[in-house]
Amino acid sequence: MKIVVLAGGTSTEREISIVSGTGICGALRQKGHEAILVDIFCGVEDVDWENPFPAEYDVEKAAEYMKSFNPQIKEMQKTRRSFFGPNVLKLCEACDIVFLGLHGANGEDGKVQAAFDLMGIRYTGTGYLSSAMAMDKRITKEVFLMNNVPTPGGFSMSTDALEKDIAKHGLSFPVVVKTSCGGSSVGVYIVNDQKEYEEALGDASQYQDDIVVEEYIKGREFSVAVVDDKAYPVIEIAPLQGFYDYKNKYQAGSTVETCPAEISPELTAKMQENAVKAARALGLTGYSRLDFMMKENGDMYCLEANTLPGMTPTSLIPQEAKVLGMDYPTLCEELIRISLK
Ligand code: DAL
Ligand code: MG
Repeated sequence: MKIVVLAGGTSTEREISIVSGTGICGALRQKGHEAILVDIFCGVEDVDWENPFPAEYDVEKAAEYMKSFNPQIKEMQKTRRSFFGPNVLKLCEACDIVFLGLHGANGEDGKVQAAFDLMGIRYTGTGYLSSAMAMDKRITKEVFLMNNVPTPGGFSMSTDALEKDIAKHGLSFPVVVKTSCGGSSVGVYIVNDQKEYEEALGDASQYQDDIVVEEYIKGREFSVAVVDDKAYPVIEIAPLQGFYDYKNKYQAGSTVETCPAEISPELTAKMQENAVKAARALGLTGYSRLDFMMKENGDMYCLEANTLPGMTPTSLIPQEAKVLGMDYPTLCEELIRISLK
């Protein structure tokens, strides 16, 4: 198949997206596909239109080229009118499917998916509306509450009307403050008192996004992929220090990940059931990853849905697939197969 792997972009998760995309593109080429890695924002200037998917193609070199834009990306964003880099759409129209290796804003939030729907371009993952709903933690929470998906209690606010009184909303410290459309825990704060709370509101306001405040669930952290409406094995994530923040997510050795998670078959089944329920409530198709916290007494809470979750060869879903006997390249092919159904 001819496949464009789109990565990079302009979100706070740009760098991790380049790592996901590099892994996906390399794996698909290993499986014999004609895959190329493209930075959605910076584009491709040097496509040979006689042969846009060359057999000789260096994925690592393409990733280096993409990374070279990292320092300039904010400046470029200020002056550019189009989110798509030169030739990107033309290339996407020429392939069988676009594998979305993007994360975060302008990639995971439904905008690219909507543009592709209008242009008849096939892509991996769920559609535009469910992407947009899952990207917004405020809307996700409302949808979970309406569908009996257990989720921490909380409230939301816009940055121009900051709510300083959490008691008014039935909460007490500690609480979690997060930007409503962030990813990879950028803009997430666990706060223990009023002073820390007000500082977190100030910091979170920088992201020009709505803010969600929710009950802090003390316990163990888990994640479950839902692929083609079925749950994969549960994985436990245990950071050696603090919570599963940006550093603990991406610095090798800082987190212990155990799959299948060492919890009872009953709790495993319940978490998988809740993951499928959460994905269905948001209308997610294709694949997604649902994140959970579980208290010592077994009460579990779904925190959020990730519609384009991390896809580096050592990310959570690839680890879950491995337990099912599926290696990383086979998983990448499987995600294409279910997205084309
Ligand atoms: N937002 C990151 C990439 C994840 O969910 O894995
Ligand atoms: Mg997320």
